[in-house]
Amino acid sequence: MKKLLFLLPFLAFFAVNAQNNTINLIPQPVEMQQLNGTFSLQNGQTVGFSTAEARGVAEMLVQKLNAPTGFGFKTQQGKSKAIQLSLNEVANEKIGKEGYILSATPNGVVITANQVAGLFYGAQTLLQLLPKEIESKTATKTNWTIPAVQITDYPRFGWRGIMLDVSRHFFSKDDVKKYIDQLARYKYNVFHWHLTDDNGWRIEIKSLPKLTQVGAWRVERAGHFGDRPDPKEGEPATYGGFYTHEDIKEIVKYAQDRNISIVPEIDVPGHSLAVLAAYPELSCKKEKAYVNPGTPFSEWYGNGTFKMLVENTLNPSDEKVYEFLDKVFTEVAILFPNQYIHVGGDECYKGYWAQDAGCQALMKKLNIRHVEDLQGYFMGRVDEILKKKGKKLLGWDEILEGGISQSATVMCWRGIKGSIEAAHLGHNVVMTPTIFAYLDYNQGDPTIDPPIYAYLRTKKSYSFEPVPEGVDAKYILGGQGNLWTEQIPTLRYAEYMTYPRAWALSEVYWSPKAVKNWDNFSGRMEKHFERADLAQVNYSQAVYDAIVKTSIKDGKMIVEMDTEISGMAIFYTIDDTMPDNFSAKYSKPVELPDGNITLRVQTYRNGKPIGHLITLKRADLEKRVGR
Ligand code: ACM
Repeated sequence: MKKLLFLLPFLAFFAVNAQNNTINLIPQPVEMQQLNGTFSLQNGQTVGFSTAEARGVAEMLVQKLNAPTGFGFKTQQGKSKAIQLSLNEVANEKIGKEGYILSATPNGVVITANQVAGLFYGAQTLLQLLPKEIESKTATKTNWTIPAVQITDYPRFGWRGIMLDVSRHFFSKDDVKKYIDQLARYKYNVFHWHLTDDNGWRIEIKSLPKLTQVGAWRVERAGHFGDRPDPKEGEPATYGGFYTHEDIKEIVKYAQDRNISIVPEIDVPGHSLAVLAAYPELSCKKEKAYVNPGTPFSEWYGNGTFKMLVENTLNPSDEKVYEFLDKVFTEVAILFPNQYIHVGGDECYKGYWAQDAGCQALMKKLNIRHVEDLQGYFMGRVDEILKKKGKKLLGWDEILEGGISQSATVMCWRGIKGSIEAAHLGHNVVMTPTIFAYLDYNQGDPTIDPPIYAYLRTKKSYSFEPVPEGVDAKYILGGQGNLWTEQIPTLRYAEYMTYPRAWALSEVYWSPKAVKNWDNFSGRMEKHFERADLAQVNYSQAVYDAIVKTSIKDGKMIVEMDTEISGMAIFYTIDDTMPDNFSAKYSKPVELPDGNITLRVQTYRNGKPIGHLITLKRADLEKRVGR
């Protein structure tokens, strides 16, 4: 016994060290080999950079290191013994434009890359190799070491994006920057900025000042978005905001410094109520319109079919509409260096076109029989405008329906089918199917998280394979996650809805298919929860909650339960008592007795409750039958 006690301090030391040496990178790199020993950060060390181009990454890294360590790292052009960032003089073909090689030994860390983007990603990996306290806002004492390791890493896809809708709710310039910064940490390289919609126009267009004087503002409303009352006559429009040209230049530069390119979206011809509030003459009926504060202005009939109760479309038969769009795209093209402009094209209701004499005359002239095909004409005109500005058209998959030029890139959201069709037609495709990539969907039980019309678990996002079977991978540029913000009024909640699903998707779009493994990812994800806590970034913990599904068999309610993460136990009651780990333990589908039963479910891990208590009355259970 004495001998064993004597060993204890060593074991404790070993345990701390082992803990510090676990590597939990997201996204998982292509190749990684952990070596013996550690490298320690120390006060007075420098970050060296090979050429002036790499200075920016070195400076950003020094800033990230200095605040939490309290050390005084400095950058140094040329060679440093501690941390070195070097651009290859002869390109390493294997790692491409965004890849890097990170070599950490007890003597120092060397990151090499062909381009600055690769150095930036190598630096992000280095930060993730450091203890979680590297995310602290203030100087913190810890063992500032990283394990010795050899990493070769590069992305699977060139397009790794997240879309943020700033129309349904306005996010300030600083919010947008903070959001972009977090995306860059997980090696995303596209920020798709949904700048216009029925609920607000968010980009200054100097030649069309009413777009932001009028279109950026709506009446203040509380309560569930989509159930809100209409504006009253004369009520001032006080909720909103927009980005000036100066704001946009600043954000574009901020993103560029983090290897993120911004794709602006101007959503036309539908979703244009904010335009019509400013310029009602661009619609068919030319009636006075207002920026929508979240009223029930459409009816949905399932299967994607719907009716707009108010006109929110531009009139495709009016030349003034194309003059308007030319002005808008002139300014957008100058502000955003990205070769793509996203022109929307989704959910365009054609009911007002069908009743309009001008549209009917145009259809006759074009020999078009179906009003739906007017969208193809409209998009063709938009494509011509963009080509004149030297830009490429990108649109939601509805742009395929009316026919679109071969050069258009299709963003597939309504499922996998559209992407197969688009690729077979020779279009480049960005994958963002709702069932894997819609970050506005509920991630946990709909009785716990605020209700949304659909749900998507992190595990499902992680299972996404972006290259559909039978499609030549060369057409799949990559993919994104989309955050629509009807129900997201704050940055904090935008983060909650984004993570951990965007971490899962970062691995889908960056890592080789062969290294993907949910159990392994979920362990790393939990470590990133701890990092996010220190970084004061919000995330959902729905992965700890039970998944409760119901079905009816022989007239009886059958309940099936599961967990997203392995290693958890599910306990439940049906007798109106609070469940604990002495209650019934779930092991197989349960047949509920008839009667006014309430099911209460609690997950446990290592003998401790984890996640939320889920309480489902019979009516709740019935509602989810077969879902
Ligand atoms: C979309 O979700 N309306 C593209």
